[in-house]
Amino acid sequence: MLRLENVNVYYGESHILRNVSFHIEAGQVACVMGRNGVGKSTTLKAIMGLLPVRSGQVFFDGVDITKDATDRRAKRGLAYVPQGREIIPHLSVRENLKLGYWARGKGSNGMTEQSAFDEVYTLFPKLTQILERPGGVLSGGEQQQLAIGRAILSSPKVLLLDEPTEGIQPSIVDQIEDVIIGFKSARRFAIVLVEQGLHFAARLADSYVVMAKGAVVAAGRAGELTHEQVRQHLVV
Ligand SMILES: Nc1ncnc2c1ncn2[C@@H]1O[C@H](COP(=O)(O)OP(=O)(O)OP(=O)(O)O)[C@@H](O)[C@H]1O
Ligand SMILES: [Mg+2]
Repeated sequence: MLRLENVNVYYGESHILRNVSFHIEAGQVACVMGRNGVGKSTTLKAIMGLLPVRSGQVFFDGVDITKDATDRRAKRGLAYVPQGREIIPHLSVRENLKLGYWARGKGSNGMTEQSAFDEVYTLFPKLTQILERPGGVLSGGEQQQLAIGRAILSSPKVLLLDEPTEGIQPSIVDQIEDVIIGFKSARRFAIVLVEQGLHFAARLADSYVVMAKGAVVAAGRAGELTHEQVRQHLVV
């Protein structure tokens, strides 16, 4: 479904991603793990087309999308919830959600607009109380619920989630984790999840990718992650 082959990404002359390869099948959850600064967010940005790939390829649904612009990738079915959430501050919650619904073009969702929105409101009831509020004034937890709601309104085939519970108060963390676990059970889309929390990653992942210094240093099926890999690459 989504495959990276020897992807290399640079910021200027700094070589950030080094021959990153991994793949994910429809409906599966892959967790990308690793310490701060190893290139996890850069990997998601490269998948989404927000950074140029200098060499290597990204395939989606059997098509080489390495040179596609970001909006084209969104239309094909990639949705992205960035680490900084990137809610549009001057648009209301309702307008931010509409951007998600229209991201793949009219009708691609397969649901009526109302039923697609109702699904998001069921997942995140809080959003119904703040629909007219500007995105810029929301709390971190509200922004994250909005960002995830907006992403799934595009009815993606693959959802890229970058540390969705980072810096969010514990009660909302539980709610967001439950929603992600629900996505996994429904298996309507695959998820590439950047996650530092080992416990949550272990609970959710079908496969894992561990990165260090811009490279994949371990990968496999969930459950195959060894204590030695955790000690060497994950625990601070
Ligand atoms: N705009 C940029 N210009 C130059 N270097 C950058 C830029 N953005 C990120 N980097 C560098 O690229 C490397 C990888 O960053 P990235 O954000 O992908 O790490 P990460 O694994 O997501 O870390 P974290 O766990 O802290 O989110 C880091 O060394 C970072 O300093
Ligand atoms: Mg990051």
